[in-house]
Amino acid sequence: MDDKKIQVLAAPLQGVTDNVWRMAQHNVFGGVDAYYAPFMRVERGEIRRKDLRDVDPERNAGITLIPQILACQPDHALIMVEALMQMGYNRIDINLGCPFPPIALHRKGSGMLAYPELAEALFKALAAVDGVEYSVKMRLGWDSNDQWRDILPLMEIIKPVHIAVHPRTGKQQYKGELNMEQFEALLAASTWPVVYNGSLRTPEGIEAVVGRYPGLAAAMVGSGLAANPGMFAPDATPDDYRRFHDLLVDGYTEQLNGGEAQLVRHLQDIWQTFLPGTNHKLFKAIRKSRNLDQYQNAASAALADVETALTAASSQE
Ligand SMILES: Cc1cc2nc3c(=O)[nH]c(=O)nc-3n(C[C@H](O)[C@H](O)[C@H](O)COP(=O)(O)O)c2cc1C
Repeated sequence: MDDKKIQVLAAPLQGVTDNVWRMAQHNVFGGVDAYYAPFMRVERGEIRRKDLRDVDPERNAGITLIPQILACQPDHALIMVEALMQMGYNRIDINLGCPFPPIALHRKGSGMLAYPELAEALFKALAAVDGVEYSVKMRLGWDSNDQWRDILPLMEIIKPVHIAVHPRTGKQQYKGELNMEQFEALLAASTWPVVYNGSLRTPEGIEAVVGRYPGLAAAMVGSGLAANPGMFAPDATPDDYRRFHDLLVDGYTEQLNGGEAQLVRHLQDIWQTFLPGTNHKLFKAIRKSRNLDQYQNAASAALADVETALTAASSQE
């Protein structure tokens, strides 16, 4: 895009877009205005340590990071808001979109969209905290694509900076049609800025959606950016992708403390989303590697063929 006016937000992807990924993406490629951290949550009365470490400002230096909370109970949400404010954050994103059944069936994430009374209680508790503003990331509903109609009026309680909408229901998870008709109805009904999120894989794809909905506040990009972290760096070279990958290896070597086996497993997992156009044989060699040496050899071979992989990545759904 020559004239990128629309704000580009990096969507949170649990297990992918953590601080190591964010800093590597920012340092090597860039083009992202703000990064949304994967959700944090409270387990047995405490925020998971790993979640806190991920949003530690020192590990996110130089980027705009918006932490995200996932909770059903207001007291859990408040524990996280307080901890984040102590770390210096005054913008927090509320997750009303997670479709993962163990979460959604506990009325968290997108599951809460079927229970406006729970969202209302949560919003009221959050709105009572001074010195922090919120955004919301949501879907059209949990099991029906018009449940947003009962949620939207509740936004008045928290007066969100924006509402990012993925136009599917929670039950659809990540499959099936994007319901653009309902998205348009939400966009028309919302008095709050709306961000579009869903299947944006190229700058041209973003341009098309902005052209269709000029009122959008921003475009949020998830799996497209995980697939090609250089999406906004048209002049990126194969060396840049190698450098990006090296930063991931270094970052996870430092951050994971489960030894080489855990490190290799994590690096292998990255390839579930990274460069999905990678030649099948090379991908298999990555999956089959048994130690770091084998992994590095297989990853190097795949990265040597990055141009082919990228052509496929931009057209993949
Ligand atoms: C593996 C995975 C993890 C995700 N984790 C989160 C999360 O922590 N918080 C959140 O709000 N959305 C999460 N999402 C949803 C994405 O942020 C995004 O809304 C979704 O992938 C659709 O956008 P996309 O088509 O650009 O990927 C996740 C999605 C995937 C596939």
